[in-house]
Amino acid sequence: MKRIVILISGRGSNMEALIAARDAGTLPVNIVAVISNRVDAKGLETAAKSGITTHFINHTAFAGREAFDARLAQCIDEFQPDLVVLAGFMRILSDGFVRHYEGRLINIHPSLLPSFPGLHTHQRALEEGVRIHGCTVHFVTPTLDHGPVIIQAAVPVLDGDDEASLSARVLRQEHIVYPQAVRWFVEGKLRLENGCVRLAADQAEPPVLIAPEIR
Ligand code: GRF
Repeated sequence: MKRIVILISGRGSNMEALIAARDAGTLPVNIVAVISNRVDAKGLETAAKSGITTHFINHTAFAGREAFDARLAQCIDEFQPDLVVLAGFMRILSDGFVRHYEGRLINIHPSLLPSFPGLHTHQRALEEGVRIHGCTVHFVTPTLDHGPVIIQAAVPVLDGDDEASLSARVLRQEHIVYPQAVRWFVEGKLRLENGCVRLAADQAEPPVLIAPEIR
């Protein structure tokens, strides 16, 4: 079975969705470790309760980004993962780190990329008045919140939405598309063609999910 390492910094609800899919038998993976750069990440507790090995690596204890990333990569590589899954890991990664995991490092971002890279995506979507928002799972490149898109989910922005209601609507979709993307990866159904992700021809599920809330 393919091995994955999950990196988190906080709540860990996407990580939980991956654990739940694994436990439900719909995601055939071995989650070999969860690593956080924050000791107080709630997700660390959740992972430990599920019997998953956890590690905390304090980024503030390192002289710079490269030094932290080198230690992080060393820790990850001890677990020999096939895939490294960023699930709310709030660190900008150095080019060297990203290159080391090229083609086996994925991220989930709470917007329809390339719109709204960076932070505060839901607030910015509301300020821009967009009518469709969502989330994106993508391979990671050295550019922040950029890279070949694996799957996206779209949700409507409704009159009266605030940051909390919109982020909750998006998060429900994140918990569906992230396990789906990881499933495709571990089943060997993703390939890159000229910098774009192509799904295997026998794959029935589409790489876009339009939230049922759209009326
Ligand atoms: C999610 O919105 C994810 O898209 C973003 O950070 C948030 C992490 O939430 N990268 P959680 O820790 O998975 O609950």
